[in-house]
Amino acid sequence: MSRDHEAAIAEAHAALARAGFPREHACAIVLGTGLGGLVDDLEDAIGLDYAAIPHFPQSAVSGHAGRLVSGMLAGRRVLLMQGRKHYYETGDAQAMRVPIGLLAALGAPPLLLTNAAGSTSAEITPGSLAMISDHIAFSGMNPLIGESDERRFVTMSQAYDPGLAALLEQAAGETGTALERGVYMWFSGPSFETPAEIRMAQVMGADFVGMSTVPEVILARFYGLRVAGISTITNMAAGLSTIAPSHDETKRVAAQASADLRALLRAFVGLLPASPGDAGERA
Ligand code: HPA
Repeated sequence: MSRDHEAAIAEAHAALARAGFPREHACAIVLGTGLGGLVDDLEDAIGLDYAAIPHFPQSAVSGHAGRLVSGMLAGRRVLLMQGRKHYYETGDAQAMRVPIGLLAALGAPPLLLTNAAGSTSAEITPGSLAMISDHIAFSGMNPLIGESDERRFVTMSQAYDPGLAALLEQAAGETGTALERGVYMWFSGPSFETPAEIRMAQVMGADFVGMSTVPEVILARFYGLRVAGISTITNMAAGLSTIAPSHDETKRVAAQASADLRALLRAFVGLLPASPGDAGERA
């Protein structure tokens, strides 16, 4: 593991400890477009702006706040990352390296990644929620390029944890939420795809497409975190509808579906094993 990254993660960790952040969390959740409101569901919350955490990325994408918040949800202490840095912002696939590495330093809680995505499948319609069962890193980028530690040869055969997937299915059943399941294909963005690219994605086995998450999954697996992913389907992908994909539509539909996702996440979190952090132990 590169010394620079390790040192950066240690500094970020120290900043959280100084701010009085709890040490253990039952899970961490990266909040994608439109889901930032989940922080309002937390009790006993403590937060820090990314700007106040050394080496944390600043994201300039509308719909992404840039704040790390620890709080209680359904009797569990959870760590919410309100906003992420995307590859397309600067061309840096490692943009989320310190935030994900920090989770490893905080005891490696399970990580749930959320995002907005466009559907390539007629069966998965806008407004629905879909669990990511596997992914295709179509951008060709990898956040571990340049990493020298032998652990860079990360096994991705089961990148999305079956145990967490089962808990998400259980939470969906308990809340009466329809939860689709499929393969997420990562395009770099920030331009949306062409209809020809979407036909290619269909042939290659994608069920939905988006511009995030995959580098975070690779980093999380590198650091040994268990991972789950949920996409909010905000639109039919290019060429599959008379409405062309747009950022405004993405934010609008993601916000509409966020009530369903918030209920699902609350139920999911309640099913997780308790952690020492539930009693408020500090970092
Ligand atoms: N393509 C890529 N990313 C997206 C889309 C899409 O259609 N919708 C939301 N994020």
